[in-house]
Amino acid sequence: MKLNYAENIAFYETGDGSNTLINKTTNETYHSKHGAVQESMHVFIKMGLEFVLRQGHRPLRILEVGFGTGLNALLTADYNCIEPIVYHALEPFLVPLEIINNTNYTRFLNQKHLKDYLTEQYKKQTELENNPMTLYLGNCEVEIFNTPLEDFKTDFRYDLIFYDAFSRHSQQEMWEGELIQKVVSLMADGGVFVTYSVTGNLKRAMKELGLITERMQGAPGKREMLRAIKPKP
Ligand SMILES: C[S@@+](CC[C@H](N)C(=O)[O-])C[C@H]1O[C@@H](n2cnc3c(N)ncnc32)[C@H](O)[C@@H]1O
Repeated sequence: MKLNYAENIAFYETGDGSNTLINKTTNETYHSKHGAVQESMHVFIKMGLEFVLRQGHRPLRILEVGFGTGLNALLTADYNCIEPIVYHALEPFLVPLEIINNTNYTRFLNQKHLKDYLTEQYKKQTELENNPMTLYLGNCEVEIFNTPLEDFKTDFRYDLIFYDAFSRHSQQEMWEGELIQKVVSLMADGGVFVTYSVTGNLKRAMKELGLITERMQGAPGKREMLRAIKPKP
């Protein structure tokens, strides 16, 4: 997959007034057209972050697959957990600073300064060509790895996975086989995986890898989403 942001990508206003990006070639959006913030809040914060915090995972290690515009990292930092969070994110096609600058997420955050913190640090880190980039958003330490899931190497095992890849329709390989095995291998025992959609294939693949799967109420405008838990031995 090749991507030229200037040529292929435009802003798109979603149903809740928050903006997202649309790939003009594939017509794929980075978030739900019904509402970008609404979807991220439901899938990743409510069904993911709040769930693992209730389960008592501390300190929390999160892996996001597909950092994109940084919306999920901002909402996680805005949740204002008392405990520090280690937040690793993978993004092979880093979104250019001008686009990150022009998302309208500030108005959806309780801590209005977070978006500026993200933009300022993203600017410095991209100028330095750091990989990973390290950004501090409140008590959330965010490391963005400019690498695809298939090439990512780490000794970390994560308590929570935000799986925010493009849909099966445009990136089928992200939803089956080796990449699902890889992401499951990166989960800690007791770790939780959340994603915005669910298919029979994905559920089956997860079950075969020993996970307990739950179809959950989807974000507004979507019927279902998936949460899967890696049982403790
Ligand atoms: C649905 S968008 C994610 C939206 C993002 N979480 C946000 O809040 O803006 C999917 C993202 O996955 C990235 N991506 C594509 N291939 C990938 C891969 N092999 N590994 C990790 N991320 C990938 C895309 O570049 C894109 O930014």
